[in-house]
Amino acid sequence: MTKRPTTATPFLSDIQTLRARAREHLEAGAIASSYVGDVERTIDILQTVLATEIVCVLRYTMHTVAAAGISSEGVKAEFKQHAKEEHDHALAVAERISQLGGVPNFNPDGLSQRSASQYTEAENLVGMIRENLIAERIAVDHYRELIRFFGDDDPATRVMLEGILRVEEEHASDMHDLLVAHQGRPMLPAT
Ligand SMILES: [Fe+2]
Ligand SMILES: [Fe+2]
Repeated sequence: MTKRPTTATPFLSDIQTLRARAREHLEAGAIASSYVGDVERTIDILQTVLATEIVCVLRYTMHTVAAAGISSEGVKAEFKQHAKEEHDHALAVAERISQLGGVPNFNPDGLSQRSASQYTEAENLVGMIRENLIAERIAVDHYRELIRFFGDDDPATRVMLEGILRVEEEHASDMHDLLVAHQGRPMLPAT
């Protein structure tokens, strides 16, 4: 026998109130009236995230071109795919900044200072894979921290970051597997 709820979700505002509130705040853009985060601070944080993603696009793109050697084709393809996905992340973050009323900062001046991860070149294929693994682990830690920070204060930003985190975890795992394949053992202990 299926259990039926005894009361109709008493914790939700009634639909009329929700509609009225949404209508009232329509002109304020995409920010819901229930937004309890600090918008300015959120925008600042997202500018750092945007810079981080742009640096990741640049690093992976550079590595795609620089990867050379007899066994580099698979690695090149992986770098190229990651560059594309980092670009998707940058775009999603920039859109969110814009929704919050900010202007996404794509200015190349000061880009690496704004970024959490570094633009690093490497002398060989294994060095590149290693640098990318380090960058991905930084990204994973950064996103986990931000997701905890936003919590329920800004669910839209949190959900976006959770989606990005899933991809970064895959990236880290891809780089780890490539490192093992090309070096025979991981250079960094698993986190
Ligand atoms: Fe990314
Ligand atoms: Fe990544």
